[in-house]
Amino acid sequence: MECVVQGIIETKHVEALEILLQGLCGVHRESLRVHELCLKSVPNLGLVSSEIRLLCDLEQPEPTWTVRHVGGALRGAGADQISVLVRNMMESKVSKNALRLFYALGYKLDHELLRVGFTFQFHRGAQITVTVSSVNKMLKLHSTDEAVPVTPGIQLVEVTAPASSENYTEVVAAMSSFCEYLAPLLHLSKPGVSTGVVPTAAAAAASLMSDGGGTAL
Ligand SMILES: *[C@@H]1O[C@H](CO)[C@@H](O)[C@H](O)[C@H]1NC(C)=O
Repeated sequence: MECVVQGIIETKHVEALEILLQGLCGVHRESLRVHELCLKSVPNLGLVSSEIRLLCDLEQPEPTWTVRHVGGALRGAGADQISVLVRNMMESKVSKNALRLFYALGYKLDHELLRVGFTFQFHRGAQITVTVSSVNKMLKLHSTDEAVPVTPGIQLVEVTAPASSENYTEVVAAMSSFCEYLAPLLHLSKPGVSTGVVPTAAAAAASLMSDGGGTAL
């Protein structure tokens, strides 16, 4: 399972967010450049359609491929009350001919994206990953060199952490308290709950840029 929250930030405040994250995490950012192919299986007799994502990490000297399946979210009264989404997720490394394999299995390409940005990975009560990226669409099939932003001037921020049915309460608590530090710059909520940019972002970014993030804590 994984715990996840998402939010958006204006590109002009991303540098301030990076300074804040650097100060909070004490690690350096890693560059992110991922080609994401969303595949859907064609519903067949007795089979419901399913969706998987093939991710190609273009930052590596030799691109590496991962297949990811996002399953159902945790349900029930307890799940509604928490501000973090807890969902099933399966990820596995695959070889570079995986796309051909999934086509042969009856999957069709639904859409593809190129995510460009950076991540911070660190331990803070849980193994947290913060991803800040612009989401781009391709003008021509698979042409990652000709990608244009889906939402110009806006970037997506995603905070995730691995969890299990035994420890998710602990992971949710660790993630929630970490997200509070980011609150002046952006609002993070469950995926699909659109919240927009926060009104305090410009002031918070200006103060981070002037003191270099050193006093963020
Ligand atoms: C919770 O469990 C997951 C899956 O076993 C593990 O990867 C993660 O590190 C655990 N987190 C904590 C905070 O114990």
